[in-house]
Amino acid sequence: MNVLVIGNGGREHAIIRALKKSPRVGKIYAMKGNAGIGELAELVDVDYCDVKAVGDWVDAHKDVEYTVIAPDDPLALGLADELESRGHRVFGPDKKAAAIESSKAFAKELMKKYGIPTAKYEIFDRYEQALEYVRSAPLPVVLKADGLALGKGVLICSTEAEAEEGLKEIMLDRKFGAAGNKVVVEEFLEGPEVSVLAFTDGKTIVPMVTSCDHKRAFDGDKGLNTGGMGTFSPAPFYGEKCADEVMKKIMLPTMAAMNAEGRTFKGVLYFGLMKTKDGMKVIEYNSRFGDPETQVVLPMLKTDLLDIFEAVTDERLADIRIEWEEGACVCVVLASGGYPVKYEKGKVIEIGALDPDVFLYHAGTAVKDGKLVTAGGRVLGVSAKGATAEEAREKAYENVRKISFDGMHYRTDIGIKYRDIPRE
Ligand code: AMP
Ligand code: GLY
Repeated sequence: MNVLVIGNGGREHAIIRALKKSPRVGKIYAMKGNAGIGELAELVDVDYCDVKAVGDWVDAHKDVEYTVIAPDDPLALGLADELESRGHRVFGPDKKAAAIESSKAFAKELMKKYGIPTAKYEIFDRYEQALEYVRSAPLPVVLKADGLALGKGVLICSTEAEAEEGLKEIMLDRKFGAAGNKVVVEEFLEGPEVSVLAFTDGKTIVPMVTSCDHKRAFDGDKGLNTGGMGTFSPAPFYGEKCADEVMKKIMLPTMAAMNAEGRTFKGVLYFGLMKTKDGMKVIEYNSRFGDPETQVVLPMLKTDLLDIFEAVTDERLADIRIEWEEGACVCVVLASGGYPVKYEKGKVIEIGALDPDVFLYHAGTAVKDGKLVTAGGRVLGVSAKGATAEEAREKAYENVRKISFDGMHYRTDIGIKYRDIPRE
C-alpha cells in the first residue's frame, strides 16, 4: 500500500521509519519532508496547511491509498475532513475532534463538564476582566493563549507584574496572533510530568509506552521554552497504579466525553499529565503524536504501525494486540545556536560513523549543493535504546559527539530527571 505522510519534522521521520518496517507498505510520499525523510520517501512540495491543495494532490495521485496527518495545524484546519469527504482513507482526527488541542478553552470546559482532573481555571475574552482576575489570583499564575501557538503560548508568571505583562502580550499585542482571542488563566500545579500518547478509535483506547519531554532550552530546565530538547521513555515514576488511575479517571472519561459531545476522536490522543499531591491531572491534550516524544516511543514498538493505523481508521482497534520492547530509549535534540530565539540556517552538518542501531531523526535539515545543511531551529534528534535508561543515555550521547555543525547546541541532561521519585 502506498502511503502519504503529512509533516516535516523528527516526528514524521520516526513515523516513516516505523511504517517502512511494515511488509504491506509500498511507496511512501512525504509532504513536505526534510533531507532525512527524503532518503526513505518521495518528497512532495505542497503546503499542507492548504487543505484544498492537499486534497487536489491526493485526488490526482491515485496510487496513494492512505494518508497519515501528523502535525496539529492541518488537523485543526480540517485536512482529515477534506480528504475523507473526497473518499480517501486517513489517519488523524477530524476538525471537531482536533479542537481538543486547537482550543485550550474547549479542552478545559470539556474536563470541567465531565469531571476529568485538571488545574482550576477561568476563561476570558475581554482583557479588562482578565486583568482584574489576574491581579487577585494566587501566584504563580499560569496564562495560556487559547489557540495553537507552537507550544509557546503558555506563560508561568511568578509576580503580578509578570502576569500583567504576559496578559498584555497575549491579548493586546497579539504575540501569538488569533490564538490570543481568549485566554485561560490557570492554577499553578506542581509535580513530575509525563506524556502518554494513546491510540484510539473512539471505542477503545490503548496507551503507548510513556515518555518525558524537556521543554526548556538549557540544562537543569533553564532558559526559554522550546519545541522540545529531548525525551526519554519510560517515565520512571509511572507504574501500574498511575496507569490504572489515568485509564479510569482520564483516558476512558475523555474518550467518552468526546463521543458524548459528538466529537468522536480517532487517531493519537496525547495526554500531557502531571503527578500532583492530589493525583494525576491533565496539563494539556494534543490531537496527535508528540514531537520529540514519538522519537523515543516508536523505536520501542514491535507491532506493525500500519496495522494499528488502519485498525483505528476502521474502528477495530480492540481486535489487535499492540506490543512494546522492554528497556528504555533516549532522544537528544541537536539545535541551532540561538534557538529558540534567533538562529542562522545553512550550516554544513558533519556526521561520523554512528552505531548502526542508533536512530538519527532529521527535523530541520536540507540538502544544498550536495551537502547536508541546517534548515531549522531543531536540526536532528539522536535516539538510542538500552536495557536501562542509563545505558540508552550513554549510547545517545556517545553518538551525539560524532555529529557537529557550527553553533550546534544540545542539553547534556536528557534522561536523568525523576529517577529518585518512587514508582507506583
Ligand atoms: P502546555 O503547552 O500546555 O504543555 O504547557 C507547557 C508547559 O507549561 C507544561 O509542560 C508545564 O510544564 C507547564 N504548565 C502548563 N500548565 C501548568 C500548570 N497549570 N501548572 C504548572 N505548570 C504548567
Ligand atoms: N512535545 C510536546 C508536543 O509535541 O506538543
